Amino acid sequence: MPTFDIVDGMALFYNDEGQGEPLLLVHGFPLSSDLFKPQRAALANQYRIITPDLRAMGRSDVPIDGVYSVDVYADDLIALLDELGISLITVGGLSMGGYIVFALLRRHPERIKGVILMDTKAEPDTEAGRENRRKMAEQARAEGAGATADVMLPKMLTERTRTEQPELATFLRDMMAATPVEGLVGALDALANRPDSTQTLAQIKVPTLVIVGSEDTLTPPSDAEKIRSGIEGAQLVVIDGAAHAANLERPNEVNEALAAFMDQLS
Ligand code: MLT
Repeated sequence: MPTFDIVDGMALFYNDEGQGEPLLLVHGFPLSSDLFKPQRAALANQYRIITPDLRAMGRSDVPIDGVYSVDVYADDLIALLDELGISLITVGGLSMGGYIVFALLRRHPERIKGVILMDTKAEPDTEAGRENRRKMAEQARAEGAGATADVMLPKMLTERTRTEQPELATFLRDMMAATPVEGLVGALDALANRPDSTQTLAQIKVPTLVIVGSEDTLTPPSDAEKIRSGIEGAQLVVIDGAAHAANLERPNEVNEALAAFMDQLS
C-alpha cells in the first residue's frame, strides 16, 4: 500500500498507476481515492493517474494537530508531488476536490499544467450553508459517519441509478461511512470556511475542462456554466443523467472527456 509521510509520522495514502502524462485527481467529501476507480481502470493504460486520500479520509492518517482547510489539503498534495518528483501536472477535482484545486491554483500556480473541475462551484458557502455544515458535524459526532453517508447518498447518485445499480450505491455509501469522524468534521469545517474562488477564475491561464452531471443538485450545471464563462477558453461537458458523482455514475462519458482533454495537453 503506497503511503507517504507528510508530517510527524502522519501518512497520506495514494495510488499511482500507469505511465505517461500525469494527472492528479482529488476526491470530494466525504469520500476517498476509491471514487476514481473507474478512471484508474480506464485511463491508467494511457496516462499516469495519481489519486491520493486526503488527510483523515479514506486510508490516510488523522493529523495530530487537527488542522483542516482547503489550503492545508492543497499543500499536502504539493508535498506528495514533491515526493514523487513531479514539478508540473494536470489537476482535477470533484466537488470539494475542485475547491482544493482552486487553492492549488492560488498557492502553487507554477505547478499546474491543466485543470479539470468536476461537479464543483467557485462560490463560498452561504450563512445557511455554514449552519447546515455545523449540524452535519454534530450529527457525525453523535451518530457516526454512517449517518452522514445516508444524508449524502441521495445527492450523489440519481434515484434511477440507486435503484438500477444498488451495488454502486452500496460501494459509494460504504466509502462515505468509512471516513473517520475526525476527518469528516474537519472537512466540514474546511468546506464552511473555504474562500470565495470567483476571483480565481480569471487568473486561470491554463487549459481547463469543466464537467457536471445534468442532475447534480449540490453543484448544478448553472454553477459549472459560471465557472466555464469565468475562465478564458474553458470547455464544459454536461453528463446526461448523472448527479453529483458523475464520474461514478457515467464513467464512460467522463473518461472519454478526460482522455480527449489529456490528449490535447500531451
Ligand atoms: C463534495 O461532494 O465534496 C461536497 O458535497 C461539497 C460541498 O458540500 O460543498
